[in-house]
Amino acid sequence: MLIALCGDKGAPGVTTSTLAIASAWPEAAIVVEASPAGGDLAIRLRPKGSVLPEAPTVLSVVTASRGADGTDAVANHSHVLNSTTRVVPGPASAEQFSNIGDWAPLADALGRSSVPVFADLGHLHAASATIAVAARADLVVVVSRPDMPSVVRVRERLIRAATHLARMRGAAPRLFPLLVSTSRHGQADVADLGAVLAETPARPFLVDAGFLAHDPAAVRRLQAGEEPAGRLARTALMRTARTVVDQIERIAKVPAHATAGSASEAGS
Ligand SMILES: Nc1ncnc2c1ncn2[C@@H]1O[C@H](COP(=O)(O)OP(=O)(O)OP(=O)(O)O)[C@@H](O)[C@H]1O
Ligand SMILES: [Mg+2]
Repeated sequence: MLIALCGDKGAPGVTTSTLAIASAWPEAAIVVEASPAGGDLAIRLRPKGSVLPEAPTVLSVVTASRGADGTDAVANHSHVLNSTTRVVPGPASAEQFSNIGDWAPLADALGRSSVPVFADLGHLHAASATIAVAARADLVVVVSRPDMPSVVRVRERLIRAATHLARMRGAAPRLFPLLVSTSRHGQADVADLGAVLAETPARPFLVDAGFLAHDPAAVRRLQAGEEPAGRLARTALMRTARTVVDQIERIAKVPAHATAGSASEAGS
């Protein structure tokens, strides 16, 4: 299973949300940082108090995926963060990403991984290098903040993503808006966003919507490699991440054609 997470200008939270949701996944999961602007995980993560080794990175997966046997290229080129979560950090600079050229083999390797992959695609638009990964994904999570400028942006982003991904896939994409909010306001924020999106062409492609709590202390603990099923599970960040995981698991059980509108609806 491949879950892609992306965002838009001025609505930070994609990398952190990817990490939180993958860590809340009940079994093994891999975070792949494929944000063309450059990676943050190699700088932020400190499992067992140590920085991650310089390699492998997502560039190692790209190289392996071009070879004859890319079946477990992702798992074979990942680092351990905690007992269930592995990570493939992105290279620190955008220049190193620009060497990738063709992203299709990477998209294919991520899609074929035997361990569920949560891929951070950074800011996504039609001309993004990572659009091939979004088109291959089983679900595209679009991260936003709940303030009005961010909601206006995410609305436009979802409409464009629905149209573009439907054309690329020749089938309906499944889109999931995710707000970085608070435990207190998250549900109301999601309801408000639902009202904003109700009459848009993106509506048939929205399979659900949810929120993660803004919880800086829990983010720090997660980045330090603390076990997500231990005391960290009681934090607002991980409780809301588990709810999002439940939502994603429900979506994954339903065949794609039964959960979203048709490609022609998005293209019209
Ligand atoms: N749920 C959260 N709780 C607390 N802090 C958060 C949360 N989500 C994001 N942040 C903080 O916001 C900042 C930006 O988040 P993050 O790096 O995840 O955003 P991004 O969309 O990946 O940004 P970029 O465009 O730079 O890749 C970081 O300092 C991160 O710790
Ligand atoms: Mg990021």
